[in-house]
Amino acid sequence: MYRSHTCGELRIEHAGMETTLAGWVQYNRDFGAMTFIDLRDRFGITQLVFNTENDAALFQRAKELGREYVIQVKGKVAERYNKNKEIPTGDIEIIVSELTILNTSEIPPFTIEDNTDGGEELRMKYRYLDLRRKPLRNNILLRHRVMQETRRYLDTTGFLEIETPFLIKSTPEGARDFVVPSSMHPGEFYALPQSPQLFKQILMIGGYDRYFQIVRCFRDEDLRADRQPEFTQIDCEMSFNDQQDVIDVFTGMAKHIFKEVRGIDLGDIPTMSYDDAMSKYGSDKPDIRFGMEIQYLDSLLQNAEFAPFKDALASKGNVAGIVAAGCAAYTRKQLDAFTDFVKEAHRGLSGLIWVKWAADGTITSSVNKFFDEAATKTWLEHCGAVAGDLLLIGAGATNKIQKSLGDLRLKIAEELGLRDKNKFAALWVIDFPMFEWNEDKKLWSFMHHPFTSPREEDLDKMESDQGNVKAYAYDFVINGSECGGGSIRIHDPKIQAKVFSALGLSDEEAKDKFGFLLEALKFGAPPHGGIAFGLDRLCAILSATDSIRDVMAFPKNNAGRDLMLDAPAPIADSQRKELGL
Ligand code: AMO
Repeated sequence: MYRSHTCGELRIEHAGMETTLAGWVQYNRDFGAMTFIDLRDRFGITQLVFNTENDAALFQRAKELGREYVIQVKGKVAERYNKNKEIPTGDIEIIVSELTILNTSEIPPFTIEDNTDGGEELRMKYRYLDLRRKPLRNNILLRHRVMQETRRYLDTTGFLEIETPFLIKSTPEGARDFVVPSSMHPGEFYALPQSPQLFKQILMIGGYDRYFQIVRCFRDEDLRADRQPEFTQIDCEMSFNDQQDVIDVFTGMAKHIFKEVRGIDLGDIPTMSYDDAMSKYGSDKPDIRFGMEIQYLDSLLQNAEFAPFKDALASKGNVAGIVAAGCAAYTRKQLDAFTDFVKEAHRGLSGLIWVKWAADGTITSSVNKFFDEAATKTWLEHCGAVAGDLLLIGAGATNKIQKSLGDLRLKIAEELGLRDKNKFAALWVIDFPMFEWNEDKKLWSFMHHPFTSPREEDLDKMESDQGNVKAYAYDFVINGSECGGGSIRIHDPKIQAKVFSALGLSDEEAKDKFGFLLEALKFGAPPHGGIAFGLDRLCAILSATDSIRDVMAFPKNNAGRDLMLDAPAPIADSQRKELGL
């Protein structure tokens, strides 16, 4: 037995007891006649004392222990003279009588402390060292709790945990597939699942009623802070349910997880239509921790001669603004930075107009040559501003307005400290459009996935008015992050065939890709629907961190590389030949 206790376990009531501990050397502090070592394991830190008076030889050996050496010590628990209130073991220390070096360590390339000097790439290369640091360890422990609480909730609500295969035929979820060559079938490939979507539907057709799986998904897509090429879903499906049933069950799950893992009551979780989210927040994943909604000035400006307004309204666009509360004193430089921000190519506004309502009541604007104070005051009032506020206005196509003001709203809120990572606001966004227009391919494509059920009342628009077909599709959003998405599925093969046709898939293509689903739907498919939560995103939010890399034991970097393994990597010619490549 290597130890009798962990490094996080001993308290004042253990004083006088003989103990054996094992762990890593965090610090070695030499105080002349005494050496103190902080011994660390997953459970905590315990202070060890080596005293020259007790045992000079042992004392000498202790002085030579380097950072990250793995040691075992025997000794007596003693009350500490200088107590450390910061750690649970801070009242005691171990007066060491025996020391065994279990392993030595090279000097780590970065300090293994809460605030480390190592950059992220270096820490990813030496992930095993980074995993020893408390901030990452806490996130990994939290993730474990989230998984256990998820299983507990879903088990008690009748969900069965069922595994589905990784070597499959491609399921479209909007990204590229990772493919795996087959040596048994040269020239043929498996695809790794972007999600278990079709399997969970097949399980419903198989009569399992409620399924879940905490499952790895693979998507070859551009990476960001909240996207990894392999990530984990809490994937769920249920039978004989409508949209509200799914929302109720998974509102329950989200509340359970937040309560059990962070002790937080998420309160009532509202629903908002996709159209409302886009129009008020310029985003289908609004951060509703603060207001600053987009306000439309169109009705006030119908007769405006000012070219940017006139042009926007003539081409069925909008003039709209957001109110930055208390920001009337923003400088020219700050305002210019906002203008540059909305002009960036992917936002696409041609400029930004500002109106300042100073605390003393004076109103100034960047368009005072065209509009007098009385006019600009009506805008301010229309938008709900008060003295002291700043109104920022854009004019242009609706999608550009929403994207630009939606992003600007988040940027300003960030600057004003309104996006506190330890405050949480969740909502359901519902009534998503079924289709979206793909300008490159000149085709309607699916917004969620092609197995999502259109609303009954929109079925007759499927061939003539695709843009106005709404789906039974919903997203679960927290703090501006899409943490889950799902839908009620089509269970009627005739409607499924109609959707494939609206997406421009010929009968042959549909049969080739999804023949098994169309076939299965013919054999008594129950009404069903479900959702998948992004476990990594959920854990990142619960851990109050920005990047999902911080809650994954072995993430890839932004270029999709595993820096520890140095993957992806070329393969040998012989291996290539075997695979028929
Ligand atoms: P969707 O594609 O919306 O739906 O994915 C569900 C949730 O998974 C998370 N997510 C990701 N997390 C990290 N990295 C990624 N690359 C990534 N992509 C998605 C998000 C998202 O909300 N089969 C459907 C679900 C269903 O209809 O039931 C699906 O996969 O949090």
